[in-house]
Amino acid sequence: MRLLISGATCVLPTGQARVDLLIENGKILGIDPPQGASVDETIRADDLVVIPGVVDDQVHFRDPGLTHKEDLRTATRACAKGGVTSFLEMPNTKPTTTTCDRLAEKLALASEKCMVNYGFYIGATPANLDELKAAKRTPGIKIFIGSSTGDLLVDDQQALERIFAETTLPICAHCEDEATVKANSLRLGGGSKYEDHSQIRDEAAAVIATKRALDLAIRHRHRFHVLHVSTAAETEFLRDPQGLITAEACPHHLFFNVDDYERLGSLVQMNPSIKTSADNEGLWRALKDGRIQVIATDHAPHTLEEKQQPYPKSPSGLPAVENSLALMLDCVNAGICSLESVVHWMCDAPARVWDMEGKGRIAEGYDADLVLVDLGKKQTVRNENQETKCRWSPWDGVTLQGWPVRTIVGGKTVFLDGNFDESIRGTEITFDHAKGGYWAIPNNDA
Ligand code: DOR
Repeated sequence: MRLLISGATCVLPTGQARVDLLIENGKILGIDPPQGASVDETIRADDLVVIPGVVDDQVHFRDPGLTHKEDLRTATRACAKGGVTSFLEMPNTKPTTTTCDRLAEKLALASEKCMVNYGFYIGATPANLDELKAAKRTPGIKIFIGSSTGDLLVDDQQALERIFAETTLPICAHCEDEATVKANSLRLGGGSKYEDHSQIRDEAAAVIATKRALDLAIRHRHRFHVLHVSTAAETEFLRDPQGLITAEACPHHLFFNVDDYERLGSLVQMNPSIKTSADNEGLWRALKDGRIQVIATDHAPHTLEEKQQPYPKSPSGLPAVENSLALMLDCVNAGICSLESVVHWMCDAPARVWDMEGKGRIAEGYDADLVLVDLGKKQTVRNENQETKCRWSPWDGVTLQGWPVRTIVGGKTVFLDGNFDESIRGTEITFDHAKGGYWAIPNNDA
């Protein structure tokens, strides 16, 4: 089966170019192939832009165990709609993904249910070092250095030292200092208003934990990815001369700040908490000067009923996979950043951070995971149109310009103009950790 995508502007590793793409057996066979190459199907895409499929390296899809919030089918429909063709999911499901057996079980479940490509982190506990050492089919190790949703937590210094010293997989972490959060909570009597969340999980909590994790990574010379950086202060420590450290920002930390509690209440309650407008600006600066390389969503759905409980019963987290690309394309249209930067932050960089094979670029031999984007399309986010099982979005009512209109996974169209092909299945993402991570691969060397 040979497919030609013709007439579109493509975002290649070297920049934008009007080229045809020839796809065979789920891979990009040729860029601008000679005229007259025999094909089975041609997609005319004259007014569209083709980008690599988005690689979201931080999501919580709740399957197994918490499937009243989300499951792998609803989550991956949302991915397909949003232009996310590959995701890496966190281990705080029920049961937690903290052994190689559970990892294999999750991968088996995903092969049945996922409409896009999938990978799963193995979670660290204070006592599962042998599992972390043995794990193979995974991007890396997730450590909650500071608790969040669920009960995964490794706060003990000795346990952390051993994980960084004795394992070889890349590590990422949720960095909020447990002691600081507890002390703040005690001071505020546990908190009673949604905005108390940002005082309990404050700047100091984020800075202390991020510094602690960076110290571990540098001393043990261990590759480390800082998840969801939320403060300008943390970005000051992200200059890494040794090529070990990468970092990530989430749309909610770029677009929301403490002023939004009044309008959105618990819908903008998440961990790490939202901070100030100066922090929004600091995160943008760090993305633009390369201290933060990745944008990911931390998609963390809870039902509206759960979210509407009073603080502190209201759970932390919000859904975002179906709107993250549009949010960033809207920024391109507003002149805030370039399309090439968005592709770097959301496609190429996460694929490189986690040593994915064949992902993140439009280049010969790479997987045909592609998104056809209409940069002129204006659409309003509406709760009732959300594919995520929780059916709400903090961006409800917001009109964005620039939307994915067709999502292709492994050469097959899984989403087209509002319709899904439910028969399509993604595949297990493979990781070649010998590649050496983000810093080992030059930007434009496909
Ligand atoms: O707000 C959050 N919710 N942050 C996390 O780190 C976890 C997530 C969840 O799983 O609900």
